[in-house]
Amino acid sequence: MAYRVVQYENGRLHVLDQTVLPHQENFVELENLAQVEHAIRTLQVRGAPLIGVTAGFGVCVGLKELPDDTPADQVRSRGREVVERLSRTRPTAVNLFWALERMAAVLAGLDGPNWRSALDAEAEAIFRETLDQDARMADHGMQLLSAGERAITHCNTGPLATGGGGTALGVLIEAHRRLGGLHVYADETRPRWQGAHLTTWELMRHGVPHTLICDNMAAALMRTRGVDSVWVGADRIAANGDTANKIGTYGLAVAARHHGVPFYVVAPTSTIDPALESGEGIPIEERDPAEVSAPGGHRISPGDTPVWNPAFDVTPAELVSAIITEQGVFRGPEYDFRRPPSEE
Ligand code: MRU
Repeated sequence: MAYRVVQYENGRLHVLDQTVLPHQENFVELENLAQVEHAIRTLQVRGAPLIGVTAGFGVCVGLKELPDDTPADQVRSRGREVVERLSRTRPTAVNLFWALERMAAVLAGLDGPNWRSALDAEAEAIFRETLDQDARMADHGMQLLSAGERAITHCNTGPLATGGGGTALGVLIEAHRRLGGLHVYADETRPRWQGAHLTTWELMRHGVPHTLICDNMAAALMRTRGVDSVWVGADRIAANGDTANKIGTYGLAVAARHHGVPFYVVAPTSTIDPALESGEGIPIEERDPAEVSAPGGHRISPGDTPVWNPAFDVTPAELVSAIITEQGVFRGPEYDFRRPPSEE
C-alpha cells in the first residue's frame, strides 16, 4: 500500500513527519534551510538513503531565497554555506555526505542563469537513483529467502528509510509479496523505537505478518522459537565490510552467529565508504541523553543518572554473512570495497 515519504515539486519539499508515526500521518513542508536541518537532526526524516535524498533537495530549498538572476559566483558561495550546514546535521550515515558532494560538484560547475534547474536536476537524479537501487536490492535479496521464512529485522529500513522501496525491510516486503508466508520479527529499537513506531506500521501497511519484540528478546527468540535469517540496513560500510547501523545491530549479529543464523546487510553503494579501511574510522553519533532517560518526555531514571547514548554501533565484517547492494550479493567474511562495487 503506497504512502508518500518525500516529494519535491515546483521547488517545494514535503516529507512525512516520522516523529509522529504511527499515530499521525503528517506530510509537512520544509520551507527553509533551518527546517531541513531540524528535520534531519530530530529524525522527522531518517534512514541513511532518505537523509541523502533530503539533503539533496535541502540544498535546493536552502537556495530558494536567491532570485533567479543571482550571479553564479554568489550562488556558489551561498551554496557552499548551505552544504556546510547540512553536513553538520548527522555524522554517521555517509549517504548524507555522498549526496552533498554531488550537489557541491554541480554548484562548483555553475556558470549560467540556469543554476536552479541544474541543482533541481541533480537532487532529482539522486532520488531517482535511490528508487532504482531499492528495486534492484529487492531482486538480489530475494535469492536468499524462501517461502515461510522467519526473519528478524532491526530499526526501520523500509520505504520510510529511503523514500523508495526500502533496503532490508524492502527485501522482506517484496519477498512476502512474491513468495508469501514470511513472518517478520521487528526489534522495537530503543531508544527511538524506530522498530515499534515505524517498522510495524510499514509491515501492517504491506500486509506482512509480524511480531514486535523488545531488543533484548532477540537471542531468546532464536533459541526458543527458531529464526531463519536476520536482515538489517547500514549507515556506513567500510572497505573491509565492517558495518555501522542502528545501535543494537552488533548484539543481534553476535546472537545470530552463536545460533548459526545468517546475518544479511542490505544497503546501496552510496552507503559504502571506500575511503575507510575499517569500521574503526566510522564516526558514531551520540545523541541527547534524554532519549534514554526520559523517552517521550517521561523520566524513567533518577534525574542525575549518567547516560551513554550512541545512535549506532559497528558490526565487524566477520559476523556479516553477505552484503546485498544494487550491484548484487557479496558474500563474506572477506569483503573488499576499496572501490565501490559499481566501479569494478
Ligand atoms: O537514526 P536512524 O533512524 O536514521 O537510523 C536508521 C538506521 O540505522 C537504518 O538501519 C539505516 O539508516 C539503514 S536505512 C535503509
